[in-house]
Amino acid sequence: MNIKVSASILSADFAFLGDELKRAEDSGCDMIHFDVMDGHFVPNISYGVPVLKSIRSRSRLPFDVHLMITDPLKYIDAFTDAGADHITFHEEICGDKNEVIDKILSRGITAGISVKPDTPIERVYPYLDRLFMVLVMTVEPGFGGQGFIPKTLDKISALRAEIIRRGLDTHIEVDGGIGFNTAPKVARAGADLLVSGSFLFKSEDMSASVNALRREE
Ligand code: DX5
Ligand code: ZN
Repeated sequence: MNIKVSASILSADFAFLGDELKRAEDSGCDMIHFDVMDGHFVPNISYGVPVLKSIRSRSRLPFDVHLMITDPLKYIDAFTDAGADHITFHEEICGDKNEVIDKILSRGITAGISVKPDTPIERVYPYLDRLFMVLVMTVEPGFGGQGFIPKTLDKISALRAEIIRRGLDTHIEVDGGIGFNTAPKVARAGADLLVSGSFLFKSEDMSASVNALRREE
């Protein structure tokens, strides 16, 4: 499988965000992963629309926006206007998921749904044919630098089997604790889009780290 890497700038040095984006692009990352936390859906606050808007022109890579917020519907327009290329929201929100997908697709960008580690993967099956990606959280959302939760591997395999069974080309993105040791495991289980934050941004040689994430053995 062709493994793509999305660099989570949550672990970047925010004092030099423009340079960090360039480092990710020069190192061969395929996307920039932009984590939005509202202090309500998750117990942390990160950054939002104005930050995305101001860094958008600093990278040619697509922006993969991960909304860890209670009411995504309200903010789709603002994030799209700011330059989001993909928007992923959580299955665990209240409200009509198809309405959120409709809104994202109406803006001409692609949609994803994310599941927390304890959420059954079957919950995304009704939406699969409308999604560019399913984001399987491999840690509890809210913070970078946590340890990978192994039981999420079974969800990735089950989801890959369902995607194949239905003849779809939906991507499986994984997020949390992805590094040198865990990348081959998630890739073998069927993930093809690997988010990585601390492993990439804390490394001395980011190109080598990106290559390490792409190896499947
Ligand atoms: C966590 C975020 C992740 C986070 C991953 O809630 O969704 O994108 O930045 O960080 P690492 O790769 O350090 O686990
Ligand atoms: Zn994320």
